[in-house]
Amino acid sequence: MAKETKLSGEMLADKVKLLHQQYHTPNYAPEHVFVKGKGSWLWEADGTKYLDFVSGIAVTALGHSHPAITKAISKQAGTLMHVSNLYHNDQAPFLAEMLCKRSIAEKLYFCNSGAEANEGLIKLARKWGSESGRYRVITFRSSFHGRTLATLTATGQDKVQKGFAPLPDGFDYAEYNDIESVKAQLKPQTAAVMLELVQAEGGVRPADKAFIQQLNQFCQENKLLLLVDEIQTGVGRTGSLFAYEQFGIEPDAISLAKGLGGGFPIGAVLCGARLSETFSAGSHGTTFGGQPLACCTARTVLEQIEHRNLLENVTQRGEQLRAGLEKIVNKYAFVTEVRGMGLIQGLQIDRPAKKLETLITRRGLLTVCTAGDVIRLLPPLNVKAGEIKLALKTIDKACTDWQADPS
Ligand SMILES: Cc1ncc(COP(=O)(O)O)c(C=O)c1O
Repeated sequence: MAKETKLSGEMLADKVKLLHQQYHTPNYAPEHVFVKGKGSWLWEADGTKYLDFVSGIAVTALGHSHPAITKAISKQAGTLMHVSNLYHNDQAPFLAEMLCKRSIAEKLYFCNSGAEANEGLIKLARKWGSESGRYRVITFRSSFHGRTLATLTATGQDKVQKGFAPLPDGFDYAEYNDIESVKAQLKPQTAAVMLELVQAEGGVRPADKAFIQQLNQFCQENKLLLLVDEIQTGVGRTGSLFAYEQFGIEPDAISLAKGLGGGFPIGAVLCGARLSETFSAGSHGTTFGGQPLACCTARTVLEQIEHRNLLENVTQRGEQLRAGLEKIVNKYAFVTEVRGMGLIQGLQIDRPAKKLETLITRRGLLTVCTAGDVIRLLPPLNVKAGEIKLALKTIDKACTDWQADPS
């Protein structure tokens, strides 16, 4: 055990904050220091407990310290953790089979994070289009695809791109849910359209089904790839294993990360028939991708989703959450709309919502303010009915607090 665990709760929290300030580059601004998690709950060092409806930003799909994940990680860590892609391991191909059999994919590529998976989508599109001189990708305003140079350029938000010029060439931005705007961006060099089916960081904005079907048709007519970023929506979050299943489309490729490892870093690029042979030996790679520890953990996540009927739970708990949030919309004038699918839901506030997020946290519930004026809720996929009920009550009380003191 590290000796700092002997510090009292308050002293440990102070020490963590001090060291963070001193040694971390200042691109994050965390406030709370969590030292323990179990199921949908997190604890600070002094014992204060929070109901966690952030789930590490849609990552801890089975909640914290899930016994099946803990067991899988412990066993695999004591057996074989990493060998690199110079060799086979006895976990990655089985996870690959599980994912391909449950999706549009014929083949896939493993990586380590969401941005890296999307970088893979972009590289696939460029390699696929290279023989015909096509490399451009149409993406959408208010999207979020990651923080590498290519993915922040794909991201249709100035604030994410600011300060990083010159940005890579090859991205054109359309308005979400507006097919005419997509058509207007088509160029002879366009190879692909890339999008989220719920713009998550962009304010929990689901795509219209009719728009997605028009987009699918547009891609087919113009021989464009349809690439879906399922980093936040994938692995059960919307009530189906992948969100695209609910839109009646078959994308050419999808990217996964976040919930796939249930808290252990892993990403994947799932390639449909047109892209399954696009990467050739040596054309793309990463040292850690597909390592046995990550793949064993992800296999456990997928097994639990199936064996515990978690997709059904997402749908039912999602409906419960949605119904409660609608009551809150009807009760408070400053809460104008609820949007989302399954267990990714957002409350639209008619003004900056950071203060409301703080009030909700003070009452013991973690949520995340996104796009400045949306309270985003991302409970674990196995959240219980009682926890949803408690979260709704907490949000209601925090809204009452804010109404009484809107400062
Ligand atoms: C839709 C989407 N794509 C990509 C990313 C980037 O993933 P990562 O932070 O793992 O690089 C995120 C992260 O929030 C995301 O929500």
